[in-house]
Amino acid sequence: MTVIDIQTKKNEKKPIVMLTAYDAITADLASKGGVDIILVGDSLANTALGMDNTLPVTLDEMLHHAKAVKRKSSGCFLVFDMPFLSYRGEIAQAVLNCGRALKEAGCNAVKIEGGMEIIPLVRELVYAGIPVMGHLGLMPQRVNVYGGMFVQGKNTDDEKLMKNTALALEEAGIFALVLECIPEGLAAKITKKIHVPTIGIGAGRDVDGQVLVISDMLGMTEGKAPRHNKRYANFFDTGKTAVEEFVNDVRQGKFPEEGNIF
Ligand code: KIV
Repeated sequence: MTVIDIQTKKNEKKPIVMLTAYDAITADLASKGGVDIILVGDSLANTALGMDNTLPVTLDEMLHHAKAVKRKSSGCFLVFDMPFLSYRGEIAQAVLNCGRALKEAGCNAVKIEGGMEIIPLVRELVYAGIPVMGHLGLMPQRVNVYGGMFVQGKNTDDEKLMKNTALALEEAGIFALVLECIPEGLAAKITKKIHVPTIGIGAGRDVDGQVLVISDMLGMTEGKAPRHNKRYANFFDTGKTAVEEFVNDVRQGKFPEEGNIF
C-alpha cells in the first residue's frame, strides 16, 4: 500500500480502512484483518499506557511502540502520529523529529494535528520526503484549550475556517486528511472540495474512509465507548472471564491438567 494506492481509492470511490495499533499484537490483528492503513496513534497514551489523555506520551515512547507495530504490519501503509509538542518550535527540529518515524521505526508517513499554523512545516516535510496526513476537527492534543472533548465545526465561522484550512493543507502537500468529530454535512463538503482522501472518525458517512481506535472497536477496555465507535467484539469481558477461570482452576487444583505436565 502506497500513497498512490490510497489516493486512487478516493478516485475509484473505494472506502479506505484505517485502524490504530500500539504493539505487535494489535498490528497483527489489524493487518491480518485486512486494513489499508495502520496508525500508531498517540491514543497509545490513553489506551495502552493508561494515561488520562494524549498529552504525556513522548516521541521516544511512541517510537518504541511503532517499532513493534512495524514488525507485524506487513502489507499495510504505516502512519506515525506525532505526539504533543514534538512538531512545534523550530521547523528544522520538527522535521528531524518527524523523520525519526521513518528512519528509526520504518513508518511510511506522519500524522500531524493542526490548522493554518502547520502549513510551513507540512511544506518542509514534503520537500524532505516525508508524507503527511493532516488532522482537523477535534484535535485531542488541544483538550485543555477546548476545556473538554467536544464536536467541532458546529457554527458557520468554524465551518468556513475548516474548509479553507483543508484546502490550504492540500495545497501544502498532505496526502490524506483525518476529520475527527465534526458534523456529517461539513465532512461531506470538505470531502467534495479537496482532492486528497478524507478519513473520518465521528465524521459521518460521506468521507473517503473510516478510522477507529482498535481498543474501542474490539471492546478491550471496560466502560462506555464513545458515540462514534462501534464495538465489534468484547475482548475485555471475554478476557476477564478467562482470567477468573484460571484463578479458580489454580485455587481448586484443576490446573495444570495431565496434558500440561512434562
Ligand atoms: O491517535 C489516534 O487514535 C488518532 C485517531 C483518533 C485518528 O489520532
